[in-house]
Amino acid sequence: MGEKRNFRVWRGDDSSGQLQDFQVEVNEGEVVLDIIHRLQATQAPDLAVRWNCKAGKCGSCSMEINGKPRLGCMTRMSTFEPTETVTVTPLRTFPVIRDLVTDVSFNYQKARELPAFAPPAGVAPGEYRMQQVDVERSQEFRKCIECFLCQNVCHVIRDHEENKPAFAGPRFFIRAAELDMHPLDARTDRKDMAVEEQGIGYCNITKCCTEVCPEHIKITDNAIIPMKERAVDRRYDPIAWLGSKIFRR
Ligand code: FES
Repeated sequence: MGEKRNFRVWRGDDSSGQLQDFQVEVNEGEVVLDIIHRLQATQAPDLAVRWNCKAGKCGSCSMEINGKPRLGCMTRMSTFEPTETVTVTPLRTFPVIRDLVTDVSFNYQKARELPAFAPPAGVAPGEYRMQQVDVERSQEFRKCIECFLCQNVCHVIRDHEENKPAFAGPRFFIRAAELDMHPLDARTDRKDMAVEEQGIGYCNITKCCTEVCPEHIKITDNAIIPMKERAVDRRYDPIAWLGSKIFRR
């Protein structure tokens, strides 16, 4: 038998909602998602939450826990003081569907807008060859589990719905950077797209995205800053500009 702890959950839908208080049993080793499941099994059978793997790999259980964007399945209850009330609310940057479930389709729209990997002409799958150093550079970005915590915390869109059409967000800056660094990607316009279509210029490098990434991807240092620097080089260095016209790169 565990101890009783205070737990507070936002309940509601896209029209209204409020925080609801619970006293709930907590056992050693449990995570926030375990407590939500216990509430569903005992006191709140209609409590909506999205989850899937319970192993920090599917990116479904993103929520805000005491105001911080986190994965419910990777946040141990022992992180909090026994007397502390643990408050769980839905991601703030996306519209609420119900309770802890938000509509993250903004992200899928931005994913669709980013052109896919473009292999060079005349090279078939299976014939791609690249240096190990290039594989390793992009490997970091491929660890992304698409939990969208970085998108949620980004102040450019967190309280600014009006910026969403012009801003793709950190998750898609790492995707653009990964493809831009890919030695076999045939597209030459990824830097220009990052500026003109993804709105990378809105980012002022506060590193909030890096801080919340559960995969510890260095989003700002390894993707956003290099993309910004290369975009600037390309746009304002006359030799780079001329080279890009002649060599299309
Ligand atoms: Fe899959 Fe939490 S349930 S990341």
